[in-house]
Amino acid sequence: VSLETFNTFRFSYCAEYFAIADSLDSLKVLLAWAKHFEKHITVIGGGSNLLISADIPGLVIINRLTGIQAREHSGNFVSLTVAAGENWHQTVEHTVQQGWFGIENLALIPGTVGAAPVQNIGAYGVEVKDVVTRVQVVDRETGDVYWINANDCGFAYRDSHFKGKWKDRYIITSVEILLKKQAELLLSYGGLINQIHGEADLLSVFNAVCQVRSEKLPSPDKLANAGSFFKNPIISVAQHDELKTSFPQLVSFPFNGEYKLAAGWLIDQAGWKGQKYLGVGVYDKQALVLVNYTERTAKALLELEVKIKSTVFDRYGVKLEREPVQLPCTREIV
Ligand code: EPU
Repeated sequence: VSLETFNTFRFSYCAEYFAIADSLDSLKVLLAWAKHFEKHITVIGGGSNLLISADIPGLVIINRLTGIQAREHSGNFVSLTVAAGENWHQTVEHTVQQGWFGIENLALIPGTVGAAPVQNIGAYGVEVKDVVTRVQVVDRETGDVYWINANDCGFAYRDSHFKGKWKDRYIITSVEILLKKQAELLLSYGGLINQIHGEADLLSVFNAVCQVRSEKLPSPDKLANAGSFFKNPIISVAQHDELKTSFPQLVSFPFNGEYKLAAGWLIDQAGWKGQKYLGVGVYDKQALVLVNYTERTAKALLELEVKIKSTVFDRYGVKLEREPVQLPCTREIV
């Protein structure tokens, strides 16, 4: 089966075996099948943070588990249990309609709810780890289903254990988030406040985020891409001071006693913004996003990645790290 419509880079690699899981029971049946036939399992949600670079051996499961349940607590809080296959943006929209605060800054992020904790999605000063209380998983080996507390998930900037040591162990089936019923807005990040027309409230923040994102980031429906292709690098104070002397315009933010650099700025200033290479390129409104115009395989994109990384390293001495998850993961295949 071609995976072209299941990854937003639109690369047309194939899955050896393919299935769509629309319930926990069907997922368990698929796990049992894969175990019996000793097939490796790869789970795909929205496919919007993926770089597929070869055919995928074993069974590819598209996670389409659905359902949202809300529990209102006395006082300020409401818990939402959302199945992993639900669309993230629609979930955000739903919470805004209900008047619940907490994820409005994360509007318009492509992908599913189940994928959100994997890379700890974040935007405009909020990360999903700020609202996640528990993550429900199924153990690939045993089929057991249980909840893991957010504190144990290893959440960090664009990272979690689900992307690391638990990659081959668990499949996320549901996510529990805790939202607030009373106003609590975060507007300090990246000039968001200047984008708000009229009074800042839940809906105007949601609308402002949607507007900023649609101006800066290409919709994967219109132009194939996987969002930020690189992480914003984190460097020491000493390295930052040195760089700032050579590049006074450097865009950076203090981050946990170190500095986070705007990789988009580094790539932009190195002359890559809007550049094309074969059928791929660097998006002309946001240099952190690589786009695919016409390629059917990842070859050109991987070459462009190497070129950008080496220009940035030569110019600034900073190593860029890739943000999307690569499939098939080479270390899983023997
Ligand atoms: N900049 C440039 N040129 C560019 C792009 C950015 O000079 O081509 C500079 C600008 O000065 C800008 C600064 O970099 O002020 C930061 O840019 P922006 O606010 O667009 O955010 P970002 O750091 O490029 C990160 C996330 C995005 C998220 C935004 C908003 C990462 C890897 N990316 O991008 O997340 O939407 O902040 O919070 O952390 C994603 O992960 O896929 C993603 C889109």
